[in-house]
Amino acid sequence: MHRILVLSRSAALFFCCLDSESKQKKPMAVNREHERFVMVGKPNLNVRQIVELTESLFHLTVSQVKPLPSYDDQNFYIQAHCDNPKECAEYVMKITNGENSKNEELMEAQTHVMMFLHSKGLHTPTPVLTNTGKLMSLEAIENGPVAWKHIVRLLTYLPGTPASEIAMTPDILFNIGRMAAVIDETISKEFHHPSKKSFDRRDFIWNYSNVPLLREYLYVVKEEVLRDLIEGVIKDYEATVASKIKNLRKCINHGDLNDHNILLEKTTSLGHDEYKISGILDFGHISEGYYISEVAITIMYMMIESSDPLPVGGHVLAGFESVLPLTTEERDTLFTLVTCRFAQSLVIARYNILLCPENEEYLLTTAKTGWKHLMNLTSLGKEAVEKIWFTTAESYSAEK
Ligand SMILES: *[C@@H]1O[C@H](CO)[C@@H](O)[C@H](O)[C@H]1NC(C)=O
Ligand SMILES: *[C@@H]1O[C@H](CO)[C@@H](O)[C@H](O)[C@H]1NC(C)=O
Repeated sequence: MHRILVLSRSAALFFCCLDSESKQKKPMAVNREHERFVMVGKPNLNVRQIVELTESLFHLTVSQVKPLPSYDDQNFYIQAHCDNPKECAEYVMKITNGENSKNEELMEAQTHVMMFLHSKGLHTPTPVLTNTGKLMSLEAIENGPVAWKHIVRLLTYLPGTPASEIAMTPDILFNIGRMAAVIDETISKEFHHPSKKSFDRRDFIWNYSNVPLLREYLYVVKEEVLRDLIEGVIKDYEATVASKIKNLRKCINHGDLNDHNILLEKTTSLGHDEYKISGILDFGHISEGYYISEVAITIMYMMIESSDPLPVGGHVLAGFESVLPLTTEERDTLFTLVTCRFAQSLVIARYNILLCPENEEYLLTTAKTGWKHLMNLTSLGKEAVEKIWFTTAESYSAEK
């Protein structure tokens, strides 16, 4: 759920299973609720247990089960038994980690949002109800010496290829930006479920208001030059964004539109290939925030694997503004918010190495590009980067 390892291309390679035992070995105490971002209780079910759960909770007979990559939950692809193999229903079973499973209300709210967006024509997975008519079931599952309770959901399976496996074009980036705006606007203006209040997550480490708290974790970055880089970003946030935040428009953010959470499907029109968005996955970061935050988060993720990272922001911005034009003040915070998201992500990844040293090599390699991007952004500076973003975005309106 808390996709800390945003910098990884292949989530499958990265597993860190903190059980309650390794939690005790935690190197230090940052004793606040933001601790929650340290995932604990990654489920460890085997295929037999998955088949049993599917049959007992959903009355479905399983014909195929395959594990799917997940950072801190466990996901399985499931095909239900049927006579014609081409028409068998496909699902994803999600076993939520023990820590997040404690917050049933939030998990329910996330699931309601997915159903709601689906009803509005967006491509989100929807839950299959349990045999007692519920969205999810809380199951006590033994895992070594501890028994964690895990939320179990069966979701519809969506077709498509993860955006991480496709070379991004300006068109795709524009569409992703537009979709980000549609998601935020639809949830913020039309979703009125009582569970909405659980999107108030002020202690969530990814909340932009918590950027200054990164200082508490900064000791995990050993290189002085990188610590200074992060400190510079935090200072910039405090000096330029913190005081303006009350003037920005609030909304509900998806908050995690990274290239593993977006599925694309190829269509061919007039002889050339196009991609349309066929899936929006993982609502684990959904929380109260600002429209401009969603733009910044999406730009950051889309930059990471891009071969031409600087213009990326312009295409995403143009797509977002085709739905929701931003105010001058909102645009003015964009550069800083993009650099803040890099900072959050890089520091949290380092912190994670400390907790799960077995991931070190992998994490260091994948974070390398992230540091480079952040260095490039800060050395070019706000004005130069904005110029690239804003002129790229303007070229769209000029075309019309
Ligand atoms: C931080 O969380 C609070 C509570 O959910 C929210 O109102 C606020 O907008 C968030 N701050 C930012 C900068 O997103
Ligand atoms: C950083 O900037 C340099 C010079 O402009 C460029 O060659 C390099 O590709 C950039 N790196 C990243 C990760 O953007």
